[in-house]
Amino acid sequence: MKILILGSGGRESAFAWKISQSKLCSELFIAPGNAGTGAYGKNVNLKITDFESIAAFVLKNSIKMVLVGPEEPLVKGIHDYFLERPELENIQVIGPQSKGAQLEGSKDFSKQFMQRHQIPTAAYRSFTKSTLQQGLQYLESQKLPIVLKADGLAGGKGVLICETLNDAKTELTAMLTEAKFGEASNTVVIEEFLSGIELSVFVLTDGNSYKVLPEAKDYKRIGEGDTGLNTGGMGAISPVPFADDEFMLKVQDRIIIPTIEGLKKDEIPYKGFIFIGLMNVNGEPYVIEYNVRMGDPETESVIPRIESDFLDLLLGVAEGNLIEKELIISPKIAATVMLVAGGYPGEYLKGRGVTGMDNVRDSLVFHAGTELDNGVVKSSGGRVMAITSLKTSYFEAMQCATADAGRIYYDGRYYRHDIGADLL
Ligand code: AMP
Ligand code: GLY
Repeated sequence: MKILILGSGGRESAFAWKISQSKLCSELFIAPGNAGTGAYGKNVNLKITDFESIAAFVLKNSIKMVLVGPEEPLVKGIHDYFLERPELENIQVIGPQSKGAQLEGSKDFSKQFMQRHQIPTAAYRSFTKSTLQQGLQYLESQKLPIVLKADGLAGGKGVLICETLNDAKTELTAMLTEAKFGEASNTVVIEEFLSGIELSVFVLTDGNSYKVLPEAKDYKRIGEGDTGLNTGGMGAISPVPFADDEFMLKVQDRIIIPTIEGLKKDEIPYKGFIFIGLMNVNGEPYVIEYNVRMGDPETESVIPRIESDFLDLLLGVAEGNLIEKELIISPKIAATVMLVAGGYPGEYLKGRGVTGMDNVRDSLVFHAGTELDNGVVKSSGGRVMAITSLKTSYFEAMQCATADAGRIYYDGRYYRHDIGADLL
């Protein structure tokens, strides 16, 4: 069977690496892909939101499954687009239709969903420009710090944690009246601050049954010791030590099952990934957010721990028989270190030659923001490459991934040396 993966990051590299190993895969295409994905399939120069061109390519090449990496095409309705056209309706799209994608596309929608289905989450209220005054009053009644979230997609930047009432009022006003995050902040969710440790739980579902993929911890801050600006993610570890059987049973009973059942009750069809961002508050799980895709860089830690045929699992999603599929997870520890561009997450260097991939000794190299320029690998994004090691201990995994990250070089290279150190 022929497969098309949409996206160009480390997540899509990990998907492509894994799917290319499946006996069920006859040909793999990645659109647009990066300088590394060409090793697993053919890169195709398509824009991930240009549904018309994607559909034409899929038909011309007899592709049977489209695996959508990022959220944007899902929120914009790529799955709906395929279902609405008779010539495309038999092509399987992995990722929810636009209604289900609202779980990520609208924080207000996802908070209402959680409230409706009694899924534990932080207390909240939503406000718009016309209710700004009530919003400002509401802030006065709340404890500090307080969290402000732009309702819509804001490229991971729409969440503000305010330490003072003054700051919160200024930011709320800027979001609602000055479009601080564009249209995404036409509605703002004001949310209680939860204090605890975060983890990411990944669920694959065909809309009825589900499988829980390996969980992971993401390291979001640019600086060592979790300091400095937020990034898309500087590294990941899987499994997460505190996500023991007792904790994961709570996650299953209070969050995963009510989420799947809630989607059914609300008549929201859902075939794809549910990424549940969780806060462990004194041993009790609370949902911080839903995403309708896999995480990046978590995927680069999660996928190498899946021993089963990943494409067969995706077929189970598409055909509605996921329950019959086997998911075997390696007990090994995966550590992923992200190599980023100088300046990231601010304005960053691009177009730098990347060398040393052949010197990597015992890790997987997943390209992210790279492109080929006359056969030379050049950096093209803020997050350049993800280096993953799979070992029997946390120490070995993090040491190996960190050492191998250091064997890759480009002008302005930066990476954190402490990914996983907090778990030792
Ligand atoms: P999000 O864009 O929803 O992933 O939020 C970005 C980050 O803000 C999360 O990963 C958390 O670290 C933090 N965050 C979001 N909501 C809360 C909350 N209610 N309490 C504490 N931290 C939060
Ligand atoms: N690493 C967090 C995310 O993918 O949203």
